[in-house]
Amino acid sequence: MVDRFSKIGFILATVGSAVGLGNIWKFPYITGEFGGGAFVIVYLFTILFVGISILIAEMYLGKFGGSDTVSTFEKVGKENGIPSLKFAGFMGFNGLIIMTFYSVVIGWIFYYIWSSINGLPSSVAEAESEFTDLISSQIGIQIFFHTFATLTVLHFVNGGIKKGIEKLNNILIPTLVLIMIALLFYSMSFDAFSKSFQFLFYPDWDKLTSEAFVRAVGHSFFTLSLGMGAILTYSASLPKEASITKSALTVSLLDTAIALVAGLIIFTLLFQYGEEPSKGPGLVFISMPVIFYQMGEIGSALSILFLSALGMAGLTSAVSLVEPAVLYVKNRFGVSRFWATIGMGSIYYLIGIFAILSYSTEYGEMFSIGGMAIFDILETSSDKFLLPFSGIVIALAVGYGLGKKLEPLKEEMGNTFFQIWLFTIRVISPLAVLFFMLNLYGFIEL
Ligand code: PFF
Repeated sequence: MVDRFSKIGFILATVGSAVGLGNIWKFPYITGEFGGGAFVIVYLFTILFVGISILIAEMYLGKFGGSDTVSTFEKVGKENGIPSLKFAGFMGFNGLIIMTFYSVVIGWIFYYIWSSINGLPSSVAEAESEFTDLISSQIGIQIFFHTFATLTVLHFVNGGIKKGIEKLNNILIPTLVLIMIALLFYSMSFDAFSKSFQFLFYPDWDKLTSEAFVRAVGHSFFTLSLGMGAILTYSASLPKEASITKSALTVSLLDTAIALVAGLIIFTLLFQYGEEPSKGPGLVFISMPVIFYQMGEIGSALSILFLSALGMAGLTSAVSLVEPAVLYVKNRFGVSRFWATIGMGSIYYLIGIFAILSYSTEYGEMFSIGGMAIFDILETSSDKFLLPFSGIVIALAVGYGLGKKLEPLKEEMGNTFFQIWLFTIRVISPLAVLFFMLNLYGFIEL
């Protein structure tokens, strides 16, 4: 029997995949780096014109294939006389690459939850040295929490779609949404809320650089979990009666809303306590703990609440990063889900340890390539190359390879929207992504 999601289970799991560290950790810090409003508008634009269309395409492809990534592309390839298209299905392994550092960051979050219980840093200098000390010298602690994160994720992947992944998301996603709403209301009580709102929604076009555009496209892929078969794999277990268009719109709307709410909360607190928004990846781990300290008694509780939301967002995305590879190995090699999970989990777990070592003072050089830490290589390769590239492949495979098979989608959308969507995935999205990649690699200047 095929393991299928319930209708609401599918939405929650897909939202769970999309809403992750990308929304609460990464979106606020890149928005801060690129000066706020103008970046937000470009980002919203890319979600609307590139992200949603590819999300619909990837969901439809998953429903059409009804199987793992490789079998699905094989099926499309056979229909079109291109058997080698099946190799595109190996994009299902991108998730393992992302997991090598994603799991380490979830480990940091667990560490910070534990350290919030023991007391928060009282100054930025102290917070900075705690974070630096953690990543440069505390190898054992990081491996401990990376192991803990891995075992949690693998436990739910091993449960399968219905008993593992759906169960986890059914509990964590509503809890996460409630925590974010509570924190949003709390942040509204500060004077700095209006400044934060202005920072996010009033564009200062002077601050917009060509790099901001490039990052916005890359981030729209990352945040909607596109281009690695996570959405495809979940959609293979789509309940028969679910609407692709409605599901895709709901998921993008919730994903964007949670990123904006996270931004509003974080920037309100930053401005209220006189911190800079452009702190980079350390924003959540350096600036936030100090702010929570300054809040006094309630600060520790809020810190734990905020970090728990971040941890939940991370875990629900993580299961979707591992599932595509597990399903493929299980189907292709006839091994049990348990052994497929252990096998795929071990691969990213071990490389994750190299990523940890690459940031350490002691072994950093040994685990760097061309002067770049393995951690950074893994992180940037997914965002800047793997996801956008695979995204184009999905858009083209669906746009040109499914032909008459797209009829049900046309019925669902109505002819006008269908034509707009088709033109977007055939022409606009591939060109936008191509343009973005050429710009990134210095072939063209914006
Ligand atoms: N969308 C997740 C986030 O925003 O953190 C990350 C992610 C999950 C990317 C699943 C890709 C993926 F397939």
